[in-house]
Amino acid sequence: MDLLEIVGGNRLKGAIKISGAKNAALPILAATIMIDGEIVLRNVPDLADVRQMLVLLDKLGVRSERDETGAIRIQVVDEMNVHAEYELVSKMRASVCVMGPLLAKRRRTQVSMPGGCAIGDRPIGLHVQGLEALGAESELLSGDVLLKAKKLKGDHIFLGGPFGSSVTATANVMMAATLAEGRTVIESAACEPEIIDLANFLNACGARIIGQGTPQITIEGVERLTGAEHRVVADRIEAGTFMVGVAMTNGDVTLEGARLDHLCAVTDCLRRIGVIVESGEKGVVVSSARRLEPVEITTQPYPGFPTDLQAQVMALLSLADGNSVITEKIFPDRFLHVGELSRMGAQLRKEGPTVIVKGVKRLIGAQVMASDLRASAALILAGLAAKGTTQIRRVYHIDRGYERIEEKLAGVGANIRRIKDESGR
Ligand code: EPZ
Repeated sequence: MDLLEIVGGNRLKGAIKISGAKNAALPILAATIMIDGEIVLRNVPDLADVRQMLVLLDKLGVRSERDETGAIRIQVVDEMNVHAEYELVSKMRASVCVMGPLLAKRRRTQVSMPGGCAIGDRPIGLHVQGLEALGAESELLSGDVLLKAKKLKGDHIFLGGPFGSSVTATANVMMAATLAEGRTVIESAACEPEIIDLANFLNACGARIIGQGTPQITIEGVERLTGAEHRVVADRIEAGTFMVGVAMTNGDVTLEGARLDHLCAVTDCLRRIGVIVESGEKGVVVSSARRLEPVEITTQPYPGFPTDLQAQVMALLSLADGNSVITEKIFPDRFLHVGELSRMGAQLRKEGPTVIVKGVKRLIGAQVMASDLRASAALILAGLAAKGTTQIRRVYHIDRGYERIEEKLAGVGANIRRIKDESGR
């Protein structure tokens, strides 16, 4: 397995181009199942998760290819198979996003329950509940959820769960509702920018969705959706990750294409820490003063502080002058990075869903293990700031969600390289 080797201490300076958003591209790719005619998607990031979704879609009769411009051209050629198998879903939970489109277009689907992952339990009860409200009948069969419906009919659906809204449940129900008969209103819908981007794509294909980006989304069902072109929105989590990296290395970087309006909670937090964040003509400009102030952070559904940046900001606060408090309200077990950051000298004390971060002067490079996508990103950022060399194993976690991260960081002065594992393990 490849590893990343980082020699810490370099300040990040220059410009990084932000890629398209993984968490917008994945449901948008799933939505192509419902669409007649060719679709052209631009700014789709070249990630392991995207390639995995294209493999799943191919098994579901959806052909795709990247053309010479990097755009992905997609066309449904066969509607027979409706089974998203465990072998694929267990590798990538976002595969669950094919459930709504398959039910809406092919009237039946069999999707493996994703089970748990490194960040905790990943239930799909809200997805099933929302699709049942549209008229689906569900059955659990040896770890798979089977859904079928003669037709789908719009309804007024509450999608709030024990941890607030659900991003992919909102995506699944919204997608299915576009081809249901009549009006659907989703209450307690996720407000994430990736949901807005999905809705905008569906509307370009002839759907009739309003309210995307608010907790109430209204969908008027239509007969069919037809192919369109769409450019995927910039990835706010990739941008936020690099903002933290600039702060940790006292750098000065322009994040080209980043949407500052999608980063309000992150900007608020970084400014309270003492980081300068401004809107530039090419994107978001981030520079860091020498001192970092401790803060209190609680992760929330959008527009609150994103859980996908919790690990990264923990690495940053490990270097602040004083004690910070981080509380994880979305995935209470999302703390696998605590042990690895501690190996680098971070002073962290976990109390249930909260971690007390006692700032230290320096982090020290070490051999560490990546565990999940965002925890791996946090270890890279820690390595950039640490004294000495850090080696990060199981880099495949990073490749799921960050496009060419070592090239992007090296391009702004980081001393980072990928060491290929020739053994092929
Ligand atoms: C999406 O996951 C993102 N993934 C995650 O990003 C992100 O962390 C998460 O939203 C929260 O923002 C994609 O968009 C592909 P949820 P999702 O359903 O939709 C509970 C990354 O690193 N819940 O919004 O799976 C759930 O357990 C990934 O890019 C139920 O209780 O998350 C969690 O506590 C990681 N029942 C909370 O809701 C359900 O039926 C939010 O989960 C569904 C969810």
